[in-house]
Amino acid sequence: MTSTNISRRDFLRLLGISSAAFALNACVPENTSTSPAIVTATPASKSGITPDIEISLKAITDEVQIFSGEATRVWRYQGQVMSGPDDALITIPDTYLGPIFNVKTGQTIQVHFTNELPEPSIVHWHGLHVPVEADGHPRLVIETGETYIYDFTVADRAGTYWYHPHPHGRTGVQAYAGLAGLFIIHDENELSLGLPSGDYDLPIVIQDRSFDEKNQLLYGGNGMMDQMMGFLGNQILVNGQAEFSLPVETRPYRLRFLNGSNSRIYKLAWDDGTPITILGTDGGLLEEPVQRDYITLAPAQRVELWVDFSKDKVGSEKSLVSLPFTAYGGGSTYTLFSAQIEKDVNVSAPLPQKLSSIISHDEEKAVNRLSPRSIVMAMGSGMQWSLNGRTFEMDSVDKDEIVKLGDLEVWEFKNQSNGMGMGMMNESLPHPMHVHGLQYQIIEREIDEDRRDAWETLKEGFIDEGWHDTVLVMPGERVKILLKFKDFTGLYLYHCHNLEHEDMGMMRNYRVDS
Ligand code: C2O
Ligand code: CU
Ligand code: CU
Repeated sequence: MTSTNISRRDFLRLLGISSAAFALNACVPENTSTSPAIVTATPASKSGITPDIEISLKAITDEVQIFSGEATRVWRYQGQVMSGPDDALITIPDTYLGPIFNVKTGQTIQVHFTNELPEPSIVHWHGLHVPVEADGHPRLVIETGETYIYDFTVADRAGTYWYHPHPHGRTGVQAYAGLAGLFIIHDENELSLGLPSGDYDLPIVIQDRSFDEKNQLLYGGNGMMDQMMGFLGNQILVNGQAEFSLPVETRPYRLRFLNGSNSRIYKLAWDDGTPITILGTDGGLLEEPVQRDYITLAPAQRVELWVDFSKDKVGSEKSLVSLPFTAYGGGSTYTLFSAQIEKDVNVSAPLPQKLSSIISHDEEKAVNRLSPRSIVMAMGSGMQWSLNGRTFEMDSVDKDEIVKLGDLEVWEFKNQSNGMGMGMMNESLPHPMHVHGLQYQIIEREIDEDRRDAWETLKEGFIDEGWHDTVLVMPGERVKILLKFKDFTGLYLYHCHNLEHEDMGMMRNYRVDS
């Protein structure tokens, strides 16, 4: 079986990482069989109308078989459809990943989330346009044994979204321990395109992890360094599997990628140089497919690909690799997984040339008319990553973090070195910037002349078309995004999705006022 079977030692050497680390089991206790009383943190559906889909979702401690030998202790989501179509949840076999939500735009959903972890948690629906009470802000965490009820209508376009924990200071370790899942939305336009479906529409969740000799997860072993820079694992897991390979037929596939890693950036390419055809980004389908030689996929970002194996020979294989780039984690080439061409089926479906219509926020006018709100990312005085010099505060916003319902705004993220003796760290660190509660458009990138070299090693892989909720901002780069605050008022978040940076406080509230 070829796939990610680089031996652990080789991998350590390859990525130049020290193997010293403390075990995650310091904070992941053995399975306990306590069944605490269920407390309802929010009242059930106020409307009194039965939701289209009712789901019970638990965060539990568990064990999964990732390697032969000892099972790996993980934390994971477990779900059950209480009412609505059975396929509203799809379980991926043999993985710690949570069930895939499989829903349609317009459906009403109620999720009963029960926390069976030994510490507080809350679920965030990453990329979804939901009311604040359903957004999973860290102030909404529930204790062990409590249940939180989410009520929302699926308002977003067809696309690949996801969910993960969001307790302040613990998002990194909880996601790392296994808590994450995909949230797939379909809509009429997308279904009418006849894109590959069923067995030919597959999730590819990429994560990096490190394990000790007893197959247990390691996290944070490099102490401050892991925190400041972000954790990098020494092994790639795909869909939660260490030896993932993809058996395929000679036909087109729709592959949905999520970079579910805490900090690692991937520069995705086929090893034989086949160009990559992109159908969609964070917020769903593009207007038309685009092609790139490689894709830069930052933590939390998704990309949907059209991969046509119809010209490949049965018995051959094609590997997806991450190529080297000049930024943290970009040292060398390594394989993520291989597709094994196993069966000749002679199915050739044409790639649709028109995928969707992107209702634009009237870009040009906006860019000229609006003065951007700028958000400077730098290392603050407390050796902490900050946004405009500030770090996370649970309940408050500053004046310049209040926006008006219905407004269209330009935000400009600036990844700047602040010359506080931390220059080297600033220089090598890109920040994937995420805004809760909406999808935005990327309208402009500018790079400092003297930072151009590193930027050049990733920039052709930025898919700036379409809708996004997370954008990678390279050192020395300024990225302008266009956002509109629709439908909901209240407290949302914007933050770096390098989860170690987020946990250290590289996160702020913004408030939508009516
Ligand atoms: Cu996936 Cu606050 O984010
Ligand atoms: Cu989010
Ligand atoms: Cu960051």
